[in-house]
Amino acid sequence: MKLKVNKNLCNGCEVCTEICPSVFEMQEDGLAGVKDNADYGPCVASEAIDNCPVEAISKDG
Ligand code: F3S
Repeated sequence: MKLKVNKNLCNGCEVCTEICPSVFEMQEDGLAGVKDNADYGPCVASEAIDNCPVEAISKDG
C-alpha cells in the first residue's frame, strides 16, 4: 500500500516523519510529503494514517 499526504490538510506537525521516517519527509513548503525513494518496508501504514491529527494521510491508489 502506498500513501499520500493531502497538503491542504497537513499542518506540519511532523508526527508522520517520526512514525515512518522511511516514507515521509518535511518538504520546503513546511509540510510533509512522501519521499521520492520511499521505503514502505519498515512503515506500518495504518499507524501513520491513524496518528495524523488532521487525517491528511491516506492510501494512494
Ligand atoms: Fe502533516 Fe499529518 Fe504528517 S499533519 S506532518 S501529514 S502527521
